[in-house]
Amino acid sequence: MSENEASPKAAGPVQDLKDMNVLVSLCKQRGFVFPSSEIYGGIAACWDYGPLGIELKRNVKERWWRSMCDNDDIEGIDAAILMHPKTWEASGHVAGFVDPMVDCKTCKGRFRADKLEHAACGQKPSKIPGQGGACELTEPRNFNLMFKTHMGPLEDSSALVYLRPETAQGIYVNFLNVAQSARQKIPFGIAQIGKAFRNEITPGNFIFRTREFEQMEMQYFVKPGTDMEWFEKWKAKRIQWHYDNGIRKEKLRFHQHAGTELAHYARAAFDIEYEFPIGWNELEGIHNRGDFDLGRHQEFSGKNLQYFDEAAKEKYVPYIVETSVGCDRAVLTALCDAYRFDGDRTWLQMHPALSPYKVAVFPLMKKPELTEYTDRLYADLKKHFRCTTDESGSIGKRYRRQDEIGTPFGVTVDFDTLTNQTVTLRHRDTMEQTRIPAEKLIHVIGEKIENWGR
Ligand code: GAP
Repeated sequence: MSENEASPKAAGPVQDLKDMNVLVSLCKQRGFVFPSSEIYGGIAACWDYGPLGIELKRNVKERWWRSMCDNDDIEGIDAAILMHPKTWEASGHVAGFVDPMVDCKTCKGRFRADKLEHAACGQKPSKIPGQGGACELTEPRNFNLMFKTHMGPLEDSSALVYLRPETAQGIYVNFLNVAQSARQKIPFGIAQIGKAFRNEITPGNFIFRTREFEQMEMQYFVKPGTDMEWFEKWKAKRIQWHYDNGIRKEKLRFHQHAGTELAHYARAAFDIEYEFPIGWNELEGIHNRGDFDLGRHQEFSGKNLQYFDEAAKEKYVPYIVETSVGCDRAVLTALCDAYRFDGDRTWLQMHPALSPYKVAVFPLMKKPELTEYTDRLYADLKKHFRCTTDESGSIGKRYRRQDEIGTPFGVTVDFDTLTNQTVTLRHRDTMEQTRIPAEKLIHVIGEKIENWGR
């Protein structure tokens, strides 16, 4: 540690994030995520991304998009949120996208009947609903999670439309359009990032479960019989993507859906789970959907969705292997995984590719000769990396501010810089400081980012 660093209080062992509320408060303070419509008291389970949050989210989306659409066998689309209502009859959502719900007549709480063991009694939070002496739960009744609205001026049943509860259906209904216009042959995939809406009974845990969220979904169309082979390939690729984002391997695992856990459309399903502070939970789903989706759309639309396989000289309805990850959940994972606290200092030990800023440039003090040099350096570095600058407060405090938002590199201009053109390069995770010529910064930082984690 150098003399520029704020003197540490008793820095102890490095701790991970244990309490989601700590992250919620850091995110609000630093501009990652704000409660939605906060000046009106907020609205349940809706969140707004702030200046840093949106950069982090865009980095996550960009990495996902490139990991999919840079492959010759994957095309991207952006389908409408509002779809023909028959889509949702065909998909099975009108009949089956339901959760069983119970109300407690005593505490007026509302719970998912199949997840009571994860809920807390409204009056005795140490007990689960139904266990407290005064609990009076209703019989479970099914509740459809799709948001409904009306298209056009008439609010009758003929005008009923749904906000899509998943982006996948926009891909299925465009399968032939994409195959024909992009001249793709099976096997090939279609990728999409977009908003989805679910009227969840029990949203919560910050951006883990919300009613409006973004999904990053890719549907891979394959010849029947080759589906399990592709399923295994996509499982491996998808967990690798999370590793490449710098998420710790020991915090990720697969969970296989068996028996009743399998969705109505799935022949096989695995979740990639992350160990959040609330425990192991789903981050991404990988599903072998067989011919369920195209088969049903063929049946409900009356359109032939068969594919003619020129090589095999046969027609078939392709099978689909789906990878589906919540963008907000991937952002939450990045934040939870990066959070570190040592009793004194808080920092986000995040892969630089995800960090909102890669470099922060500071004058050691607010003196014109230092700030002028800093401004020139900042303008130069900005051409290569997303940068920020800050001249208010002690240098130690400025380092700490950047640590808390995950900026991996700090560059400080001091009086020696003016004579020998060297600057201090400070590393977020180790606080190590090295002196290097200012002209080498772009190369050195670029190389460190390129080789991060290797
Ligand atoms: N098309 C398949 C599908 O939608 P899903 O398991 O229901 O499958 C996929 O959702 C992913 O979307 C989940 O793994 C999760 O990351 C994200 N997701 C689902 N519901 C969500 C919610 N209410 N809030 C935030 N993310 C959600």
